[in-house]
Amino acid sequence: MFKVLLSLLPVALATPLSFPWGGQEPVVHSWALQAPKAESGWTDPRILGGQFIDFTTPRYGEPLNIVISNLSDPFILTDEGFRQYYKSIGFSEECLGLHYGHVHKANLGDGDERKSEHVLARQHYFLRWGTCWETLIGGNHFRAWKQNGTMADTGAWFLAVSKEYDSTRNHMIVPNGYNIGRDMLVERALEGSSWNGMSWVAEIEWREGLLEAGYKGINHAIAQDGRVAILTVHRV
Ligand SMILES: *[C@@H]1O[C@H](CO)[C@@H](O)[C@H](O)[C@H]1NC(C)=O
Ligand SMILES: *[C@@H]1O[C@H](CO)[C@@H](O)[C@H](O)[C@H]1NC(C)=O
Repeated sequence: MFKVLLSLLPVALATPLSFPWGGQEPVVHSWALQAPKAESGWTDPRILGGQFIDFTTPRYGEPLNIVISNLSDPFILTDEGFRQYYKSIGFSEECLGLHYGHVHKANLGDGDERKSEHVLARQHYFLRWGTCWETLIGGNHFRAWKQNGTMADTGAWFLAVSKEYDSTRNHMIVPNGYNIGRDMLVERALEGSSWNGMSWVAEIEWREGLLEAGYKGINHAIAQDGRVAILTVHRV
């Protein structure tokens, strides 16, 4: 009996725990951060002193857990095209232009140093209610910055995605909310989406070693798994 249990143990350890909301328990990786190297479609912010964590406060921030590479449909690299694209995957601008919380800054290593977010978008559950609904019940949202400083003008978008509680909890991030938020957006992007007669589908490359796993430097001390999704969004 004991032997049987022992032989099952590796299987149990190898099976990630699944949670009802579809996320997985943060995995603690032992890999080290990789040295920045040349990338295609974006530039590693760390080359020029940037990082994959934004500045929510001077010391803590949220992980930049999705990059949309410049090998994507050129239209979605523009402000208007990006708006249409994120609408197609279920996000929109803030409810009635109400902006709560403060603006986050990020250093994308493009020579702009710490710059304020260019976009803040929230998941909308029902078109009729728009993001006002999300503002009340909580949900997925992201901030985005464009890598367009003169030292690395790639035009790639860097996103900090997270899932939060409803407004009664002052928009706190849910446990594991960085991984969950990222995975929800990625799932929608890979499924493919349409807006205004245009359709897109994303291709993904998962990267480790750009961002340290865990909660060091992360706002609210909510651990994240250190994985960054590199998306290339194709017009189809
Ligand atoms: C895309 O990014 C690469 C860096 O990986 C850069 O060399 C290239 O010029 C960029 N392309 C455009 C159109 O900005
Ligand atoms: C960089 O991109 C953002 C977002 O598209 C835009 O608001 C800003 O004007 C751009 N900066 C420059 C120098 O083009």
